[in-house]
Amino acid sequence: MTYKILITGGCGFIGSNLAIFLKKKKFQINTLDNLSRKGSKLNLKRLQKFNIKNFKLNINNKEKLLKLPKYDFIIDCSALVEVSTELNNIDKVLRTNFLGTNSILLKCVKDQSNIIFFSTSRVYSISKINSLIDNKKLITKKIHKRKKLQVNEKFPKSSPISFYGLSKKSSEQLIKEYVNCFNIKYLINRFGVVAGPWQFGKVEQGFFSLWIWRHLNKKRLNFIGYGGNGYQVRDILHIDDLCEIVFMQVKKFKLVNNNTFNIGGGLKNSIDLRDLTYISRKITNANIKINKIKKTDNSDIPIYISSNKKIKKFYNWEPKKNILEIAKDILNWQKNNFKILKKYFN
Ligand SMILES: NC(=O)c1ccc[n+]([C@@H]2O[C@H](COP(=O)([O-])OP(=O)(O)OC[C@H]3O[C@@H](n4cnc5c(N)ncnc54)[C@H](O)[C@@H]3O)[C@@H](O)[C@H]2O)c1
Repeated sequence: MTYKILITGGCGFIGSNLAIFLKKKKFQINTLDNLSRKGSKLNLKRLQKFNIKNFKLNINNKEKLLKLPKYDFIIDCSALVEVSTELNNIDKVLRTNFLGTNSILLKCVKDQSNIIFFSTSRVYSISKINSLIDNKKLITKKIHKRKKLQVNEKFPKSSPISFYGLSKKSSEQLIKEYVNCFNIKYLINRFGVVAGPWQFGKVEQGFFSLWIWRHLNKKRLNFIGYGGNGYQVRDILHIDDLCEIVFMQVKKFKLVNNNTFNIGGGLKNSIDLRDLTYISRKITNANIKINKIKKTDNSDIPIYISSNKKIKKFYNWEPKKNILEIAKDILNWQKNNFKILKKYFN
């Protein structure tokens, strides 16, 4: 069965990789992206090689969005992905992420399309995540001891959750209101950290890619927060593993819909910044200086590890690529595209 799919934010890191992946699986793919993210024009060129048409449109332009062709699915990857506490950013984040989802939902209702929404682990309560760890300095380096720290879909979502988290949590609720009233169907995926080729990493987002790039270029990095020691732990999901599970979700949509999943690298793919530094050194042969910035941002969390129990139960899926494979894939991509990428990384 081939479906017509619109991927919003389709020139971003996840959207562009997913668009190409699904096109190779013979789906009919269009993307929508206003090309605002640095690097999205480069991704657009990749899409064009696969004959994927992009509508250059702001997601908040409802009038034009409603005039686009009809799709079986809209996969929503358009967002401002920043857990920023800058005051002048808040309005933009809410408008793009929350009202952007509203525009997409209007289009879904008009055409009776299904929506697959890409949410985030940041919908979970910062204070409850903090309280998983008694003493931030004691985040264990032993992976098996992190087992009880995995977060499942029922984990509390009380404030604070960051403005970005709020925009996504509100979008999730908005989707459910539309579904209740207008008979459309949804899936919500709450991803942890996703990494892989074509992610133009920056401090606010995409640290894994940034870490390897800075090592490759022998530039400095910072350990920010928690005393500046690189204690923070995250689970890392390779973009190919993400594409595989979304493909399964589209194929099985008639059987599994109106549901919410945590999806991440999971326990085995959890790593702290110290170990990421160790791996980056090993694969690049570079030993760079890492500065300590002791103060922790109020929106930061010491650890996040997705529980993949539910997604595994529904689809028998689990991530295939381990941390070292992810790091090597990114390094090869950066080396093979070194000259072009210089413009897109700091
Ligand atoms: N990358 C991750 O680790 C991660 C983790 C959890 C959730 N997510 C979610 O996955 C989705 C995709 O993330 P990503 O990492 O690919 O981000 P990205 O920044 O690489 O891509 C987002 C794309 O959206 C586009 N965009 C931004 N504002 C727009 C607007 N107003 N109109 C149209 N297009 C607009 C940008 O140009 C960009 O190409 C987001 O919804 C994000 O919240 C990502």
